[in-house]
Amino acid sequence: MCDTTAEVITEPVAATGRSRWIRVWDPPTRLFHWSLVLLVTLSVYTGNVGGLREMDLHKLSGYSILALVLFRLVWGLIGSRRSRFADFIHGPRAVIAYVRSLVGATHQNFVGHNPLGGWSVVAMLMSLLLQATTGLFARDDILTEGPLTKYVSKQTSGTISAIHELNASVLYVLIAIHLAAVLGYLLLRNENLIRPMLTGRKQATPETATADLPYARSWIAAAVLMAAGGIVWWVVTR
Ligand code: HEM
Ligand code: HEM
Repeated sequence: MCDTTAEVITEPVAATGRSRWIRVWDPPTRLFHWSLVLLVTLSVYTGNVGGLREMDLHKLSGYSILALVLFRLVWGLIGSRRSRFADFIHGPRAVIAYVRSLVGATHQNFVGHNPLGGWSVVAMLMSLLLQATTGLFARDDILTEGPLTKYVSKQTSGTISAIHELNASVLYVLIAIHLAAVLGYLLLRNENLIRPMLTGRKQATPETATADLPYARSWIAAAVLMAAGGIVWWVVTR
């Protein structure tokens, strides 16, 4: 976990008169994010429609989400600086200080996820992990069951299916908060967080201009993703 104050970038830089762009989200993190958006949309749609063909797609997209989340958990340890959990998981004091700064006059500027956003990222990842793993043991009593449902009793898979259904609602709430936050920054603070998630770069402020750091190598991310995919494939073909 980060030191509460050290992560707020405060070093002043010489004014150059030119705007500079600093690296924030590396290509693997951006690819992870936008793939997740597509796949979660697909999973929610197919899970709610529930037909035979839809549930086949539902399972495939759920496996892909599981592989993506496993990838992200590893990338949170070895990825580029801004993608690392150590960069954005802060203690309660930092979160409170950040919330105070949001309503106060002096807004704390963070290059990557802010302390509040960092916890919402963790919550989304945990909820997605729970959703995808419970799906493996779920069943709908008519058409579909997960690849591991056969290993648990009917009662256990019923309970797990109920968790799968309940956690889907938790996920909706987390996504709604996420989208409201992104929109809130845009409309209320005039800060576009979406562009860096598309291009990888953010315009530097005097406080953040020294925070441009190199990305980790993308081939390492590709290797991690392949390993995560391999693990999921191995599990679901048991
Ligand atoms: C299914 C819907 C979505 C899910 C599950 C989701 C999930 C996430 C996750 C897990 C992160 C953290 C990225 C990382 O560090 O790896 C993130 C960040 C982000 N997402 Fe989403 N997202 C969704 C939809 C969207 C949409 C539709 C937009 C834009 C309109 C968006 C904009 C962003 C932005 C701007 C960030 C970076 C926030 C920051 O600067 O701290 N997300 N999202
Ligand atoms: C993160 C990925 C996933 C999401 C977002 C998701 C979402 C959903 C949703 C919204 C439903 C409908 C719940 C309802 O009836 O109200 C559902 C049902 C279902 N899902 Fe998933 N799911 C995911 C992963 C999986 C996986 C990996 C499997 C199995 C391989 C799976 C198997 C099922 C089954 C069997 C049902 C019907 C039983 C039930 O209603 O609980 N899901 N899912």
